[in-house]
Amino acid sequence: MTSPTQSLEDRVRSVAARHRDDRGPLLPILHSLMEDLGHIDPAAIPILADELNLSRADVHGVVTFYHDFRQTAPGRTTVRICRAEACQAVGAAGLVDRARTRLGIGLGETTPDGAITLEQVFCLGNCATGPSVQVGDRLHGRVGPQELDRLLESAT
Ligand code: FES
Repeated sequence: MTSPTQSLEDRVRSVAARHRDDRGPLLPILHSLMEDLGHIDPAAIPILADELNLSRADVHGVVTFYHDFRQTAPGRTTVRICRAEACQAVGAAGLVDRARTRLGIGLGETTPDGAITLEQVFCLGNCATGPSVQVGDRLHGRVGPQELDRLLESAT
């Protein structure tokens, strides 16, 4: 874990140093940065390119290929709605539409007040009691429209 008082460059170089001896260190570094910072700041890309002797395009390509690597800071609470098969079969698509409408944002976006980031995920490991929704670290099952409204309200 890096210190929040460190500059972005120091934090990125510190994380890179921890993974220097890994085989294929870029993905582990990006995951560590996600844990530390909550997103991959675009300013980190040239620093990583320098650390790993890669082109900026190479690093940018990996960051943008994987949806898990956010490039903007998330809101205070992230709401994840499962869109995998079992949850889709019991109404997940409707929950996503409802959340988008109620929050006025799209998937991967954050409300203007910075309260909620809305994301879709593909399985939360709670398939038997879908639709599944994760609010922050807390997993909820059998979430219907009213329960979703309550969860969104409690997250604002
Ligand atoms: S399919 Fe939704 S939790 Fe697994």
